[in-house]
Amino acid sequence: MHSIIVHPAASLQGTLVLPGDKSISHRAVIFSSLAEGTTRLRNLLEGDDVLCTIDCFRAMGVPIEKEGEEWVVKGVGLKGLRAPQKVLYCGNSGTTLRLLLGVLAAQPFEARLTGDASLNKRPVKRVTDPLSQMGAQFSVEGEGSDKRIVCVKGGALRGIDYRSPVASAQVKSAILLAGLWAQGGTSVTEPLVSRDHTERILEAAGVSIQRSGTKVSLRPPPQLKIPSTWTVPGDFSSAAFFLVGGCLVPASEIYLEKVGLNPTRTGALDILKAMGAKISIEENERMGGEEIGTLKIQFSSLTGTNIEGALIPRLIDEIPILAVAAAKAKGRTEIRDAAELKVKESDRIRILGELLRQIGVSAQERPDGLLIEGPKAFRSAEVQSFGDHRMAMAMAIAALVAEGPITIHDIDCVKTSFPSFWECLRKLGASVTFL
Ligand code: S3P
Repeated sequence: MHSIIVHPAASLQGTLVLPGDKSISHRAVIFSSLAEGTTRLRNLLEGDDVLCTIDCFRAMGVPIEKEGEEWVVKGVGLKGLRAPQKVLYCGNSGTTLRLLLGVLAAQPFEARLTGDASLNKRPVKRVTDPLSQMGAQFSVEGEGSDKRIVCVKGGALRGIDYRSPVASAQVKSAILLAGLWAQGGTSVTEPLVSRDHTERILEAAGVSIQRSGTKVSLRPPPQLKIPSTWTVPGDFSSAAFFLVGGCLVPASEIYLEKVGLNPTRTGALDILKAMGAKISIEENERMGGEEIGTLKIQFSSLTGTNIEGALIPRLIDEIPILAVAAAKAKGRTEIRDAAELKVKESDRIRILGELLRQIGVSAQERPDGLLIEGPKAFRSAEVQSFGDHRMAMAMAIAALVAEGPITIHDIDCVKTSFPSFWECLRKLGASVTFL
């Protein structure tokens, strides 16, 4: 387990091109595996989470190789997956586990899936319930333990009209994936719209898909048509750390190029702007069915705000770094309607409260969020990541504006979503020391 010291910074200056979006990278591997023909994936995130998805599809007979800068996937078509000869390992990745369960629900074979200690404690019933209603069979070995294995026996499925109790793109995507093989139509209605990458990819792949409010419906296609080259936009969730870093560190000016700006993902941009952040979008184009742009961020003085309601699914992964911004903003920030934070890579309500208090911020945990009073001076401290990549990176940004260095332990988790994070920090002028 590695540790790092992050030192306070005088300014952050420079330009970054960020690694590929994690959500889109998983889906790029999944959909190109299920398509017919070869797809060359560019700017695919090479984080541990996506490498797990690649490994799982290789184990089901899909040839996936790296050639130069590209990942080449030789799709096997909707009927071409083979029974894996090993337990499929999903690592720390909820997206790998839940989306794969959707795929496996419809395959004419059995499979077993597991993950690391954190993933094995996260809920799967939210996907196995609807997939069981479609006709798949599930059993769980070691429920509640670090060693849980989810077993799935797939087969012929019937379409479903599912009303999901949670706004979750993983639940929605698992059901839509299963719907690719189900008899009749499949639809999912969510309480609020979650990220829509799956829908966009399905539309582009020629699948008959309808969207109306928070409802998405599809009919099973004969095949998926995926372009032969697919470039993944930069990850907005990774950009968010530098959006906040640029706002907080005096005299900063940062440019983030080719960042994915899908509106179902950019709630943090809206919130930071509402807090007074100087962020502008310099250009706008499209890449692989997704909006992209260059973001310019400058030092700004922030004011607290409320984060709640329909905004929550649009910024759920950014709450750790927004909490750091809130702690430096003038006044109170209330985060509500975000109980989902408790079932992320860590219990992000409890851990955020604990970490913020360790650096001198008064944060109150609520059942569905946090109450943060700012602005506060951040103390020099020694903190744990709790194995959560976004906590480690949020603490690193906090350290840039702390009174002294912050030591962060157990930083290997950062590799799940942003292996080049520390290099990017250094490129902007920050000083980090690996221990
Ligand atoms: C993801 C969806 C979100 C998000 C996760 C990635 C996805 O989870 O937190 O990091 O790729 O579909 P939920 O859909 O469960 O909220």
